[in-house]
Amino acid sequence: MKLTYYGHSCILAEAEGKRVIIDPFLSGNPNANVRPEEIRVDAVLLTHGHDDHLGDTIEIAKKNNCPVIATFELAGYCQRQGVQVQPMNTGGARDFDGFRVKWTQAFHSSSIQVGEQFLYAGPPAGILLTMGGKTLYHAGDTCLFGDMKWIGERNRIDAAALPIGDNYTMGPEDALTAAEWLKAKVVIPVHYNTFPLIRQDADAFARACEEKGIRCVPLRPGENLDL
Ligand code: NI
Ligand code: MN
Repeated sequence: MKLTYYGHSCILAEAEGKRVIIDPFLSGNPNANVRPEEIRVDAVLLTHGHDDHLGDTIEIAKKNNCPVIATFELAGYCQRQGVQVQPMNTGGARDFDGFRVKWTQAFHSSSIQVGEQFLYAGPPAGILLTMGGKTLYHAGDTCLFGDMKWIGERNRIDAAALPIGDNYTMGPEDALTAAEWLKAKVVIPVHYNTFPLIRQDADAFARACEEKGIRCVPLRPGENLDL
C-alpha cells in the first residue's frame, strides 16, 4: 500500500491498481499542492462532515464517477448532491473491489454548515482501510479514547494517521499515547499546521514517538510512503 499525504487529514491510499482518497480537503487548504480535478480515485471515504474533511468530495466523486463511502447521514447528504454513495455506520465493514473498509468510533462532532444552520451529519468515525494486505487506521478527528487499545489489539495496524493539531482534536501528547496503544508500525501525524489554531511541531512529535520506539514519519503535502 502506498500512501500520499495531501495536507490536513487527506490521505490517498493505493494498492494493486486501486486508489481511495480519505477526507479530500484540497481547494480550501492553503497547504495542498494538488487540485481536486487532478485526483483519480475509485472511492472517496469521509470520516465526518466538517468542511475541512468533506472538502472537494462532491467534485471528485462526480469527476471520477465513483462512490462516496461515509456514515449514513453524511452519505445521504452527498447523494442529494448528485453522487453515488455507500452508506455505512460505526462498527460496519464491507469489502469493495480491491479494498475493505471498517468504521470505528471517533469522539468529535459532525455537521455540515448550510448558511447559518448546521445539518446533522451522523456520528464522526475513524476508518480501518485494508488494501494490498496492509491496513491504514485513519483516526479522523477525535480525542484520545481508551478503546484505541482495543483497536490496536484486534487489528494489525500497518500505519496510523493521527491528528496532532490540538484545539479541535487530540494534541501531540495524547496522540503519542494513542500511537502506543494502537501498536501501529508507523504513525503519520495529520490535522496540524493548516490554520494558526492547530500549529504544531511535527518533528518534535516524531522525536517523542521515536523515544518510545515508535516509527513516525511526518509527510509534507505531496509526499508519499510505501508500507
Ligand atoms: Ni472536524
Ligand atoms: Mn477537522
